[in-house]
Amino acid sequence: MATWMLDPGVVHLNHGSFGACPTDVLDVQAQFRIEMERNPVAFMLHDYQPALEQSREALAEFLGADAAGLVFVPNATYGVNSVLRSLETQLSPGAEIVVTNQTYNACRNAAIVSASRFGGSVIDVDIPFPIESPSVIVDRIRSAVTERTALVMLDHVTSPTGLVWPVAELVAELEPDIPVLIDGAHAPGMIELDLSSIGASFYTANCHKWICSPKGAAFLHVAERHRPHMHAAAISHGHNDGWPASSSRFHAQFDWTGTDDPTARLAVPAALEVMAAHRPGGWEEIRRSNHELALAGRDIVADALQLAAPAPDAMIGSIAALPLPVPEDAGDSIFDPLMERLHHEWKIEVPVFAWPTAPERVIRISAQQYNEIDDYHRLAEALRAELG
Ligand SMILES: Cc1ncc(COP(=O)(O)O)c(C=O)c1O
Repeated sequence: MATWMLDPGVVHLNHGSFGACPTDVLDVQAQFRIEMERNPVAFMLHDYQPALEQSREALAEFLGADAAGLVFVPNATYGVNSVLRSLETQLSPGAEIVVTNQTYNACRNAAIVSASRFGGSVIDVDIPFPIESPSVIVDRIRSAVTERTALVMLDHVTSPTGLVWPVAELVAELEPDIPVLIDGAHAPGMIELDLSSIGASFYTANCHKWICSPKGAAFLHVAERHRPHMHAAAISHGHNDGWPASSSRFHAQFDWTGTDDPTARLAVPAALEVMAAHRPGGWEEIRRSNHELALAGRDIVADALQLAAPAPDAMIGSIAALPLPVPEDAGDSIFDPLMERLHHEWKIEVPVFAWPTAPERVIRISAQQYNEIDDYHRLAEALRAELG
């Protein structure tokens, strides 16, 4: 059974933001660190690359991806930036990047800055929440695409609204004419994933969220046709073949992006194994039980707020959002004061975001193996008291 070091005096309902890493996985990471510090030069020059290849192979198998197209990045934000940086030199003024109102803010920012560098623009598609069906998303994205569209950036599991999007359907419609970058930050470990059947040009996601690896482990998968012109957001030795340890030019762009602590990415196989061993039914049972708990938790909170479920159950993974009533004295901060009160007064960690724009806001719960149903009852009690 996996165990976590989480503070038992706190109700942790925000696995979604930064994950939480089991103790056994942290032990494996610590062992890598000890080996690294016993002889940093030997570790970086001799031991690092073979360990990285093992990690890449294990992750590729888990994702249903080819290892040749898979590289590690420190986080999904870096993955998105790397794709945009690599594409923008080929884009002409007037080209458009399509995002949505549910795109993660950091990644939307990256698209806006990228578009300003090549003289293009960002098209922001409005996707409603509450939502009735995934087909609304497909229809709205479809109608935003024009001959100027150079890239469509889609979230697989949206951050503010916690919805699983029909990305495979959209990729099938758009690719190969229009490259799709999927920001799957939450997807691996939360929903069943087979990257080869999705077939997007670019797919980036975190291991430190639902795979429960140490923080600083994420990946980018790139379709074969784009690999020759890919580079990491930080240009390093791989640019002139100065990192000969890698098995391809594409890998070399990402395998070394300057000295850092590589132990998080090296501990990804341990996270995959420790979590798989946590339940007799392995990853499938983890995904199913988290999903069931998220739905049960959402219903408890929705009852307390007297709300109907804002999305079909099939669009939920292990995070679920609910719109909150807007208070009369609402401000315009991205992090709502209610989130601070839940943190300080109730010892509950749960995100409350301004969305789509302040003062409108949503609350988003998470369900991970360390949660239990009483966590959501406690949140419901706090919300009843706070919101009256
Ligand atoms: C959809 C989405 N994309 C990107 C990120 C950014 O992840 P990171 O901070 O690990 O880059 C998040 C974080 O929650 C997210 O929800």
